[in-house]
Amino acid sequence: MNSEKAVFLNPYRPGAGHMPPYLAGRHHETNEYLKLVAQTTILENMVLTGLRGVGKTVLLDTFKPLAMNNSWLWVGTDLSESASVSEENLAIRLLTDLSVVTSNVLVSHERISKIGFINTEEVIKKKLGFDFLLHLYKSTPGLVMDKLKYVLEFVWRCLQSQNIKGLIFAYDEAQNLSDQAAKEQYPLGILLDTFQSIQKKDIPFMLLLTGLPTLFPKLVESRTFAERMFRVIFLERLNKEYSREAILKPVTDRQTMSPVMFTKDSVDLIVKHSGGYPYFIQFICKEAYDAFLPKLVAGENASVPLTEITRKLDTDFFAGRWARATDRQRELLVIIAQLENSGEEFSVQDIVELSKKNMEKPFSPSHVNQMLSSLSTVGLIYKNRFGKYSFAVPLLGQFIIRQQKI
Ligand SMILES: Nc1ncnc2c1ncn2[C@@H]1O[C@H](COP(=O)(O)OP(=O)(O)OP(=O)(O)O)[C@@H](O)[C@H]1O
Ligand SMILES: [Mg+2]
Repeated sequence: MNSEKAVFLNPYRPGAGHMPPYLAGRHHETNEYLKLVAQTTILENMVLTGLRGVGKTVLLDTFKPLAMNNSWLWVGTDLSESASVSEENLAIRLLTDLSVVTSNVLVSHERISKIGFINTEEVIKKKLGFDFLLHLYKSTPGLVMDKLKYVLEFVWRCLQSQNIKGLIFAYDEAQNLSDQAAKEQYPLGILLDTFQSIQKKDIPFMLLLTGLPTLFPKLVESRTFAERMFRVIFLERLNKEYSREAILKPVTDRQTMSPVMFTKDSVDLIVKHSGGYPYFIQFICKEAYDAFLPKLVAGENASVPLTEITRKLDTDFFAGRWARATDRQRELLVIIAQLENSGEEFSVQDIVELSKKNMEKPFSPSHVNQMLSSLSTVGLIYKNRFGKYSFAVPLLGQFIIRQQKI
């Protein structure tokens, strides 16, 4: 091993939102996105959805520079903590994010007088920062949506002269936004109504929402027009060719001089075992790389230690999620994992029938319905638009079967 090889570090990056050393595939999704970015009047917004760990966040990260190169401004954040956000909080969220890109924009004297600011001189010295936007929001009469719309329209009038194509509002983990009828809070509805209304007025503010597969049904449930408002891109696992690239490119890149190289058999094994899911590819490769390194240095043959890696994956990735389920939920999940179609989609009926066969105390349809709904809230299951269910965590079924054998 020469000195250049000695400093080569394990390149793989299993971790939420960690950019992989090589982002494989995703050309089709990127092209779809570029079509949306080419719109002058926003007729379609984007939902980027898919299972846990399939690569939504890192793809979203690559979209940002593409937008900015096309003269768009990029606004947004991660909504992980937003489960019970109120309408007012949502509005503040949008203003906060917006102010990051507008805070250097100067507002003309004329414009400020038009909107009737009391202390004109003071405001003029400031720019279009958060305080200004909040003041504008608060001093506008009406409901949250009226105020928000007014601010957004105002901001666009100020930006128009700046050679900007528009603004992209990019929100990750957007499945966390929820309307709450009991509290009479409809933040999701407000978001959709506001953007629909300003887009009708030809203001080029585009929504780009990312999240688990529960996201789009949630949007449609909140406003049926969401069906027409969004182009939905469902990120799938990587096909075999792209999986191979994700595994090999980080170590075959000539400039990097990796001391570890995977054989064809190893690559095939990783492709198969990861199911093409990006997080699993990164995870297995990282572990395999560490296992290969000392063997190759010692001049020995190396192979992927699959049993050990699987055990580590079970502990690091699956166990935490499994631990959050109650005993009865686990019983239900075991039945689901035993279904032939557990890796694809299944119905309440499929579960009820198998539970009659395999259990002393089988589940009734209403019980299954109710439990699937709570499992969906904790992000283990999702219901698609056709009323069928799937695991929201890739390869969860295989993990559950492994647990049964321990
Ligand atoms: N196209 C890709 N090629 C190679 N690795 C990828 C690719 N996409 C994502 N990854 C890797 O997969 C892992 C998960 O990516 P990311 O966090 O973006 O997924 P996610 O869909 O946002 O997950 P979550 O639903 O948990 O938010 C990361 O380790 C990332 O480096
Ligand atoms: Mg993510």
